[in-house]
Amino acid sequence: MSILVTGGAGYIGSHTVLELLNAGYDAVVIDNLCNSKTESLKRVEEITGKSVKFIKADIRDRAALDDVFANNKIDAVIHFAGLKSVPESAEKPLEYYENNIGGTVNLCLAMRDAGCKKIVFSSSATVYGGDNVSPLREDMPTGKTTNPYGTTKLYIEKILQDTAAADKDWSVCLLRYFNPIGAHESGRIGEDPRGIPNNLMPYIMRVVVGKLPELVVYGNDFDTPDGTGVRDYIHVVDLALGHIKAVEKVLGETGSSIYNLGTGIGYSVLDIIAAVEKAIGRPLPYKFGPRRAGDIDTCFSDPSKAKRELGWEAKRNLEKMCEDTVRWQLNNPDGYGD
Ligand code: NAD
Ligand code: UFG
Repeated sequence: MSILVTGGAGYIGSHTVLELLNAGYDAVVIDNLCNSKTESLKRVEEITGKSVKFIKADIRDRAALDDVFANNKIDAVIHFAGLKSVPESAEKPLEYYENNIGGTVNLCLAMRDAGCKKIVFSSSATVYGGDNVSPLREDMPTGKTTNPYGTTKLYIEKILQDTAAADKDWSVCLLRYFNPIGAHESGRIGEDPRGIPNNLMPYIMRVVVGKLPELVVYGNDFDTPDGTGVRDYIHVVDLALGHIKAVEKVLGETGSSIYNLGTGIGYSVLDIIAAVEKAIGRPLPYKFGPRRAGDIDTCFSDPSKAKRELGWEAKRNLEKMCEDTVRWQLNNPDGYGD
């Protein structure tokens, strides 16, 4: 079986390609490399001893997609390609709608015309908005997104559900990720963000390697046990393995489904700092600052539906997430380099 992975050179994509190869699938990757480098895939080949077919292409380029489907037998698609910065999406909403939504519609048209109607999509816990109370379940209402990035995820979910409702040959699996962190335990692949990171763990890693002086904890007056924000951090390898289960599902049946991919456990920013300090064996410099606009107190999943229906659950704990992130960062202080 051959899986087309859009955005497969990126953080979650590269870890998923690795697990696809380990599970015996062939992987064809398309990526425009706007936020990644092919080095990630070279290292996946090195770790697995298997090869990945890489095609530099943009999901908005219909002719390029038609070529990919004409020249490769594709059984299903895992669709990661997209822009993902919350603050950038507020500055450039049209670019986000065009890339993420326009790109997805273009991809689905090319899939339909090629007769490949099976797709697993990277959605996000952000679609639950701030009003639902954690643990978040898939049947809770969505719709109150607070930024254009989140809105692209919400609209794409709807577009894919409408597509599956209109044509019974389609098989759509929407995966709502919570907060992916960690790296493959080889220390060879991991997250390599450009510029100053927005997210907690990549920011902490810049402090660990001395590229940033200290972490600013955004607020200590949230309605949580220690006053700092609580999130459901999930090891990227567990997340990748969830995609293998989702691929099996779309290959085996039609219709549409939604699954949370999280651990079901909420950790605060101070819990994360303590776990990183344990992994590096020294204190992490940090200070408290004001809240970041739009941040909510608590967000964690009810992951039981994925366990029940996909036979998947996260196995790697916070200690492992931090150890693996630190190994990747210390082995690769400049990420994948220039
Ligand atoms: P990433 O930026 O590392 O990977 C995305 C990849 O898509 C990159 O390699 C980028 O070059 C590529 N890409 C972007 N636009 C493209 C286009 N038009 N054509 C072809 N390639 C394109 O991000 P990631 O963290 O691996 O996230 C993967 C997916 O998961 C994204 O859709 C993201 O929104 C979603 N997601 C991520 C998180 C998270 O916290 N990392 C949480 C929820 C959902
Ligand atoms: N935080 C800090 N300092 C930082 C960065 C983050 O204290 O420098 C705190 C935040 O206030 C929050 C927690 O760390 O309490 C996690 O923040 P992240 O930015 O890492 O993650 P978010 O939960 O805010 O958002 C992430 C993704 C979004 C996605 C959302 C839900 O960035 O794209 O999870 O899936 F929509």
